[in-house]
Amino acid sequence: MPDLESRPASPNPRRAWPALLGITLIVAAAALAFAWVAGWLTPSRLTPQRFTNAIETSNGHIYRGFRRAHAKGVCVAGYFEGNGQGVTLSSARIFAPVRTPFVGRLSVGGGSPYGLDSKARVRSMALELNSDDGQQWRMAMNSFPFFGVASVQAFYEQTVANTPDPATGQPDPVKQAAFAKAHPEFARFAAWAKSAPWPTSWANTTYNGVNTFRFINRAGEQHDVRWSMQPQTAFAAMSSEQREAADGNFLSEDLDVRLAQGPMRWDMVVTVAKPGDPIVDPSQSWPEDRRHVIVGTVVIESTTPQTTGACRDINYDPLVLPTGVEGSGDPVLAARSAVYSVSFNRREHDIASGKAASATGPAAPQGAKP
Ligand code: HEM
Repeated sequence: MPDLESRPASPNPRRAWPALLGITLIVAAAALAFAWVAGWLTPSRLTPQRFTNAIETSNGHIYRGFRRAHAKGVCVAGYFEGNGQGVTLSSARIFAPVRTPFVGRLSVGGGSPYGLDSKARVRSMALELNSDDGQQWRMAMNSFPFFGVASVQAFYEQTVANTPDPATGQPDPVKQAAFAKAHPEFARFAAWAKSAPWPTSWANTTYNGVNTFRFINRAGEQHDVRWSMQPQTAFAAMSSEQREAADGNFLSEDLDVRLAQGPMRWDMVVTVAKPGDPIVDPSQSWPEDRRHVIVGTVVIESTTPQTTGACRDINYDPLVLPTGVEGSGDPVLAARSAVYSVSFNRREHDIASGKAASATGPAAPQGAKP
């Protein structure tokens, strides 16, 4: 016979209801927060998901398994060799006179992994540096010297304006003109795109960080900086006739030939801002007379295809930074971090669910390889 006296008293429903109400409120608040972050409560708010959707739409096709922007590229590997000059600016380990290995990626702008290299105005370099103090620095740089627009919203509007009209397969010139009128800073970028010479190779292209970062040295001193990777390979320009005649994959073919002869090198040049220089607007350049410090050398030694190489599963989020480097508060950096994450998750999901496009898929135009 069980001892009824020793049983725990059954809960008093009157005492339980405040706790139940509290739990319900916490669950409701979590659901609301989730809905807010996902943008379900604010259909017009620009969320990372909506930005990524707009990029996918402007590509005209979802190339599953690939980056939603800068989709065509190759993995590269090598090291960064600091020369010691950077330690006065930042305590990041890579600036010491040591070699820091990286997994990198050279790519072209655009949403198709099968696009023609001759049509890609923008070329890019991304690096994930793993230093011997266990820290990581990821960076993604472009061949344009400044960003086309001053804000995240403006870049979204540019993406929408460049979306092909289903009727013509081309962007609507009226929408593009309206965008350019609303964002006068874009004229400088358009002039660059029209007139800047096209280098013949990934090897002789300059890659610019464009956004501003904050360097902090061991003494705690701070400097606002931007950086560029400037090629040690001599510059050579490509005429439009040469581009037209070039193979659709001439950049990766050229890279293979060059790497068979030896590594390729770039100087990392850090530019230090003066008070008053624009920090949170990457469309504005700094005056030429700012202090430039060569802090080391990027050395690329080998390459592998992006579909099988180590860069495939790296998100080159520009806000993954080591001690001694911080973001500057530029909203474009925060947006990049958020949108790259969505793009990364979508491609990894494609790959994990066996939906990645292949080189022979229906979306692949002739001649191009992913
Ligand atoms: C709000 C502005 C921007 C948006 C929304 C944006 C969006 C994207 C997206 C979705 C990707 C693909 C990421 C992935 O799947 O891993 C990407 C890649 C890239 N972006 Fe941006 N981007 C922005 C600004 C910039 C700027 C200012 C630069 C350079 C200075 C830049 C350089 C790059 C590079 C180099 C890559 C290729 C990285 C790789 O090889 O994985 N982007 N961008």
